[in-house]
This record gives sequence, structure tokens and C-alpha cells, in this order.
Amino acid sequence: MLACAVIFTAHASSVSADRDRITVDMAKQGAEIPKSLYGIFFEEITHSGDGGLYAEMIMNRGFEDGNLPSGTTLKDGFAVAKHGYCYSNDTINKFKVEWKAGKETNGWSVESKVGSVPQYSVVTDRPLHAATPHSLQIDLGASVSDVRVYNDGYWGIALTKGEKYNFECYLRADSKAKEQTVEIALVDKSGQVAASRQMKLNTDGEWCRYETTLKAAHTGNQYRLMLRFNTSGTVWIDYVSLFPRKTFMGRENGLRNDVGQMLADLKPAFVRWPGGCIVEGLTMDNRVKWKETIGNPMTRPGEYNLWGYRSTYGFGYHEFLQFCEDTKAEGMFVCNAGMSCLFRNGDYASSNQIDELIQEALDAIEYAIGDKNTRWGSERAKNGHPAPFPLKYVEIGNENIGSRYAANYNRFHSAIKAKYPQLTLISALMFSKNIEELNEVEIIDPHYYETADWFYNNANVYDKLPNDLPYKVYVGEYAAIGRSTLYSSLAEAAYLTGVERNADKVQLVSYAPLIENAVHGRDHLLVLKNDSVYGRTNYYVLKMFSENSPSINLETKISDENLLRPVSPSGFVGISTGNTSAQFKDFKVTRNGRVDYTTSWSDFDNSWHKARGEWRAENGVLTQPNAHGDGLIWLKDFEAGDCVIDMKARKMAGYEGFRIVFGGKDERHYFMADMGSHSNESVLFREIGDKGSVSLFDYRNQEPVYVDHWYDVRVEIKGNNWKCYMDNVLKYEYNYYDVRKHYAVSGYDKTKKEIVVKLVNGEDTPWKTTVDLKNAGKIKPQGVQIVLSDPSSGSENSFAEPLKIVPRESALNQIGSTFEYTCAPNSFVILRIPVSDK
Ligand code: AHR
Repeated sequence: MLACAVIFTAHASSVSADRDRITVDMAKQGAEIPKSLYGIFFEEITHSGDGGLYAEMIMNRGFEDGNLPSGTTLKDGFAVAKHGYCYSNDTINKFKVEWKAGKETNGWSVESKVGSVPQYSVVTDRPLHAATPHSLQIDLGASVSDVRVYNDGYWGIALTKGEKYNFECYLRADSKAKEQTVEIALVDKSGQVAASRQMKLNTDGEWCRYETTLKAAHTGNQYRLMLRFNTSGTVWIDYVSLFPRKTFMGRENGLRNDVGQMLADLKPAFVRWPGGCIVEGLTMDNRVKWKETIGNPMTRPGEYNLWGYRSTYGFGYHEFLQFCEDTKAEGMFVCNAGMSCLFRNGDYASSNQIDELIQEALDAIEYAIGDKNTRWGSERAKNGHPAPFPLKYVEIGNENIGSRYAANYNRFHSAIKAKYPQLTLISALMFSKNIEELNEVEIIDPHYYETADWFYNNANVYDKLPNDLPYKVYVGEYAAIGRSTLYSSLAEAAYLTGVERNADKVQLVSYAPLIENAVHGRDHLLVLKNDSVYGRTNYYVLKMFSENSPSINLETKISDENLLRPVSPSGFVGISTGNTSAQFKDFKVTRNGRVDYTTSWSDFDNSWHKARGEWRAENGVLTQPNAHGDGLIWLKDFEAGDCVIDMKARKMAGYEGFRIVFGGKDERHYFMADMGSHSNESVLFREIGDKGSVSLFDYRNQEPVYVDHWYDVRVEIKGNNWKCYMDNVLKYEYNYYDVRKHYAVSGYDKTKKEIVVKLVNGEDTPWKTTVDLKNAGKIKPQGVQIVLSDPSSGSENSFAEPLKIVPRESALNQIGSTFEYTCAPNSFVILRIPVSDK
């Protein structure tokens, strides 16, 4: 992958005026970089597992796809959760998901070459296994027929000529006909047969396992599996499975070799499993129950996951642990903390049920690392792995909030720590005041799904953490969202420079989501379809960081006075709502200590511009009654720079909250104090502009807006310093700078004896620098540069051009203690500079 490009020559020089100076000081060492830093986070989402990493080629192999999500019942086309209190907002949730008919035959079709299509249905009589009771029953009729049962795989079955595929299925046939056969074939829609086998059909009415190997005579990605019955009577089909013989590390029930290898190439320090929101579930019953994900895959019931499809959990707990071992990564298991997803049903376990969940987590740990003579250790041995697996971390919950979580965490933490003191336990809390309620906190797990510009703006966010922080940070999920391009990948690179610089505080980091099947069309780190996979540019960013992680940081300074330019907004002032109905009164603007505008809304129709939403002024109260979409109004003919804006605001219903708008130019360009941001999790500032809606915060707080409470809201704008108060309490303060997108971090690799300088140029112009290596001793004249770049920041890899933008490695010549280096536009550059022993 690291192709050799042109030989680059650095110029030993004195400083030139149009260059930034990057000073790296070997005598000033910073944080050691833990081996744990760069890991990966797997969750079954967008068919990342089934139809993705997991090599099974048959969709709905056990006919279990029609099962409702656990904890729901079917009503009027919806899977409806039991009504109950939602822990995050203390209201009764009436949670439901649409449930379309016909899921039970997902992936399957039945045809007949003789006469009409036979009767077929998914049934539960005489189940093959109690946990997976469904099978496909086909009435073949009284006389010999020619019935073909097809499975399309995951949007086509991909075959490679000459490769072998392991087929397995269970059939039960009831027929008077003797000496019958079933044909197993891989065919495409034009009828081309890539492989075929006849097998003798047992017709005694008992379940019988059939197994064979199919060797492909052709290459293609639109094959189907065909089971052809040339008999009479009734046949039942269950657990139909097809795997490539070549899986990652040759494991049975294994992973796709190409995808597994790309993940292994990241050299992940840890692997997190199983998520994500699916740990929590749509309902408590719908959570991932690890015990249902081990053992014979035929007996695993699977579960409808909250990302909209049923998971087989073929890539289950055992396979996850095996993958950790195969990639030399440490395992991170995430257990449910007694609460379902707060964005879904939000039901929670009672105090007694918490004990059962703690036991569930303890059993999982015992399965991974317990002696093979223990209850669950012996189960691991039975499943083929007597030695313990490398489980190192357990995360208690995912994205949970509040005092209820804190109390649950304390119980989980003390029980797990008492039995397994060697494990590192992670709290699912982000930066939150609930941390104070945790008896013992080792690591917290903030998540960031923000725009590229947020990541550029916050490359220094961890520099602001206090040195005596009483816990470590695991950035468990981060992704620059919006259009996925080199621009957003470089934003993540910029952010990772800050992570690496603060590796004493931020000890683990993982991007999310990891894998996407292209049928879903969302952009994750790896994008795949049935016959190929490519890494987006952010995959290569992560790979470069992981492969070039030094032992210890070196102080690195960029001398550029224009790196941070304070922004002082000026423009209209107004009010906005986001997916929320709300009321407002006593709106007032003060400038230089003088009240310049106040209203009881009698002037509303004349003085205010209504851009979005439904606004109604009555009896001194302004109402925006629509709880969906965005509302926006501003005061006409009124420009304000520094000012104080006061109002009273009350949320009535909806997902988020209300906002005070300032510095506005038009309905697409303005700033706001956003109360109830991020689905009502936080209070922060936001800029609406050409780059979309960019959150302006460094640490997101967990400050929701409650319904039916009249808040006294105040926003103070003083140049680039902005403050937002609610009920006279300062909720958020932010200093806004426009950032020049130049970033650097460096360290020393003690093993290779090299200084490693990482430079990110997020601008589309070259970044000319002078690199000044202080106290570096004797520098060898030739090093290496690794460059990821493209002239266009909007570029990205694709199936057509999977290697369009990849790291290119070349020689870096004539290096001295001071040398000039120019980073290409839109680039991430790593310089490896060898130094002699002093
Ligand atoms: O990565 C997708 C989801 O985002 C994860 O499941 C969840 O933890 C976060 O909200």
C-alpha cells in the first residue's frame, strides 16, 4: 500500500519569512503514548456484521427474521414496547417501530418449473431447535415437481472462480417417493451454474443435516443459492449456510478474509464489542444477551437490532474474543447497565434485576478469562478455546446518563472489581456532573459525532483538561459527519493530533461506526459490498496514526500568529426552536448597559421577521407550537454586536429545546446559544453557515431542558467570548476563534530511534514550514515521509478507485536540525527522522 513516490529533498536552511516554524524539542518530553491508544469499535449496524465482516453468505439462514424485537408486541403494523417510564425524561414512553409483514422470508423465493408455485410458509411445528424454531415448509404436491428455492444472499452471492465454499443445511422431507435427491447449486439469474451438487434426500420425515463443498467455476457477484427438489410430498428447510472456505485466519464460522485483514492492518490495540446502542436495546429485553451469541450458530436465536434488521449474532461473543486474539488486540466487552437506549424506549431494570445483570456481566468475563474448570470457562473450552482470551476492559453501559446510571454503575463496578481486579472498567458517562456520583471512576467514554469543522476547531480540546484529572478518557466513538471526504478525514487527523499529544489523559480512542455495507449508503471507515471492500481516507488516517505511534511526546510548537483568529459576531438577534414547541416572554436586548429593545410582543407582527416555524403572539406570550422542524425569527432593523439578550422561555414538547440567536446575516448565516442541543443533552453554542450547523463547544455538558418550566435565559456576547445562563446559572461559556487548519504533534520512537513528526494541513494551499529540531543530537540525513493528500479536499476513495488516496511513502533527504518542509494542500504528513544515539 505504501507506494514509493518521488524522492523528496528537504532543504537545510535558515528561517524564511513566509514559513511557519515548527519547533520540536527533544529535551522537553511530554506524555508517554500508551500501547492501548488506537483501537476499533465494532457494532452490528448497516450490515457491518451480517452481510459485512461475518462471512456467512446466506441471508436469513434460519428463517428467524420475522421474530418481533424482544419486549414488543405486534399492533396495527407496529412492534410496540410495553408502556413505561423512560429514565431519561421521566415521561411515559409509547415507543414503537414500524413492522412490515413478510420479513420471515427475507432473502428467499420459491419457484416451480412445473405447474403453479407451490404453497409455502414459515412454520414452527417440529422445530429443529427450540431457540430457532422457524423453518420453511413447502408443499411439493402429490406428483413429482420441479421446485426451486432461492436465496439471494446479501444482495447477491459473490464467487471467485476456483474457490471453494462450504455448504450446510437441514432438511426434513416427507414423501412416499423413493431414492430422491436434492440439488444444491449456485446459479445466476441468466441460469449460468457456477457450482452444483446432487445429494440423496432422506424422506423419512426426520431432520437431517446436509453438508457439501461447492467449487466455483466462474467469478461473479450476483449468484444465488438454489435448492432444487424433484420429488413429491412436503419438505421443510432450515439453517441454510454457505461460507467461503477461505476465512480470516481460516476460522470456522469465520470472518471475510478481505475485511478481517483490513481491520487487522489497523493493528488495533483493542476491539470493542458489541456496541453501541444495541448494548442498550430498543427495550431492555432487546439488548444484546451475550449468552445467546455463543455455541453452535444454528442454535443462536439472533435479535432484531435497533438499526433496523435482525442480527444472527454469528459474529458473537466467542468470535469477537477470537478476533481479538487473532489481531493481537485486547478485548473490550460492553455490558448493559440496566437501562435501554434513552433515545428509544428508555425502560430500565429494577433494583433486583440489576443483580441479575451484574451476574450476566460476571458470567461473560468468566467465559473470556475464567479457568477452564469454571462454569463459563468450561463453556469456552467446549467451544474450542480452553485458554483464556485477552479480555482487558469492560465498559459498563453505553451512552447512559443521570443519577440512575451512576447508582447502577457503582454496583456493577464494585462487583466486577471484587472478582476481577485486573480488569479496567469504563464508565459510559461522557463529561458530566454525574461523574461526581461514581464511587470509583477509572475511565469515561465521551462520544463525538460532529461536523468536520468541529473537529478542526477542537484539535486542542484535550489540552484544556486539567493535569490532575482524576480519571482517564476513552474517546469511544468519534466521526466527522456530513459529507465524507478528505476534508473530513483531515479534520479527524487534526483531532487525533490533540488526542496523541494528551495521551496521558486520553488513553484509548476508536472511530465509529467501523464498517458499512454499501447498500445502506452511509459513510463509515470501511465500505464494502459482497465482493470487495475499500477504506475511506479516514481509514488511512487512523492506520497512519496507529502505525506511527511514538513512545513519548515531544514538545511541539507552531509559530503562526494567525493560527487562531477571534471572531466577534455582529448582526440580527432573534429566537429559534429545534424540534420543540415552546413559549417566550420578556425578550430584552441590552447594549452598553442600556436596554435598547424590550417587548411584550404587541409589536411582533411588524417588528419581527418570521423565517421558519409557526409563531403566535398573544397576551404577552409568544408561542411556537410546532414540535417538529426548526423555528426561526429575528428582530428587524436591529444590528447588535456586543450585547446581553434576556428572555423567559418554556419548553412545551419535543426532542430538543430553544435557542437565542445573535450575529445573524440571513436565515442561513447566524449564531445561537442552543439549549437542548444533541437531542436535549446539552447547552452549547452553534454556528449556522456555509458548512452547515457547526457545534461550538469544547466539552459537551449534559444539561437538558425540562418541559413546563419557565427558564430565565440570558446570553452575553462580548467579542469572541460568549456566555449562556439558565436560571442565573452559567451553563456554557465559549471563546470562538476562526482556526487556520495547521496542526502538528511529534514524538520519539525509542525502538526505532526516530523523531516522528505529524503534520496536518487542512487548507487547500501549501503549508510552508521550517522544522526546527532542538536538542536532537546527531540527525541522520535521510528519513522517510508518508503523505496522504489530494489536490481536492472534496475527494474520497470509492469502489471504482479504492486506492485513489492512500499514504505514499518516500525518502526525505538532506534533513538537518533545521530544514524546510512544505505540506501539500489537503494533506496529512508523517516525517520519520532518524537520530543517532547520544
Ligand atoms: O455509532 C452509532 C451509534 O452512535 C452507537 O451505537 C451509539 O453508541 C452512538 O449513539
